[in-house]
Parts: sequence; C-alpha cells; structure tokens
Amino acid sequence: MKKEKFSFEYTRFANKAALDPAFKTVVESADAIALNAYAPYSNFKVGAAVELENGEIYSSSNQENAAYPVGSCAERGLLAYVNANFPNIKIAKLAVSTPNINYPLPPCGMCRQYILEMEKKQNQNINIVLSGNEGEVILLDAAADLLPLYFDEEFLQD
Ligand code: THU
Repeated sequence: MKKEKFSFEYTRFANKAALDPAFKTVVESADAIALNAYAPYSNFKVGAAVELENGEIYSSSNQENAAYPVGSCAERGLLAYVNANFPNIKIAKLAVSTPNINYPLPPCGMCRQYILEMEKKQNQNINIVLSGNEGEVILLDAAADLLPLYFDEEFLQD
C-alpha cells in the first residue's frame, strides 16, 4: 500500500515586530477588534481583518450567543459581510488573531472551508496571517494550504 503525502510551505516570524511590514496594518486591525469581541461564554476573543486589493481594510470579531451554536466565528462573520458588500473586489490578505493565547491562532475547520470558498471564487490566493497575543506569527500563502481534501463545489454539479 502506497502512502500519499500532503505538504505546504509557510513563513514563520519570531513575533509581530518581525512580521513582513506589508501585513502590519491588517494584523493591527485584527488585534484591535478582537478586544471588543462578544465572547461572554468562552471568554475567547478573536479578531479577523481583511485587506482588499484596493487597500481597504475591514474587520470583525467572534459573536457568541446563549444558544451556543448560534454564535459565529470572527472569520465567517467578516467574510460574509465583505462578500455581501464587495463581491467583486478581491481579498488580498486575511489576519486572524487572539489576545488569549501566545500561539498563532489556527482557524476552525468550518472557517477553513469558508475562507477557501472565497479564495476559489476570486481565483486568487489569500495570504493569511495567524497570530496570538505574543510570540510566533505564521504567514500562509493560501487558504488552500489549510484544507487538503476539501469539499469542492464541483461535486455539486451534475
Ligand atoms: N473562534 C473564532 O472566532 N475563530 C476561530 O477560528 C476559532 C474559534 C471563536 C468561536 C467562539 O466564539 C470562541 O472562539 C471559542 O471557540
């Protein structure tokens, strides 16, 4: 039996100060909005920010609910807004950040699928920066790197 292997390359920075300056603004925006996250149940605050190809920045945070599954992650709330309002403007960068941990925040599985849909729709990679409060920062070239063996829209065609 032959085993197959997935691999991808990403960039690791020692901390936010060492980050490629092109990503500074979008990460700062995610950091700032995370502080106002509505997360009274988990107390886990997440911020997400996008930089569009025209340079505009939009951001949002996780929004929880007493009926737990009703709550939404920062990434999906943000991307739904951006895709609703600017469906024809490409997303160049996405930053996801939390003040709660000193580790680059890995997006949940549902958000990976959502981010990937946006990437495929615009037919252009989204650079993704993952960060925590302090410590290492991870820069991914594309959403596709986060989700091998993804559920693809082509499966729904007849
Ligand atoms: N959360 C996000 O907003 N994004 C992620 O990628 C991971 C998890 C939120 C959802 C929930 O409000 C809290 O973090 C704890 O899971």
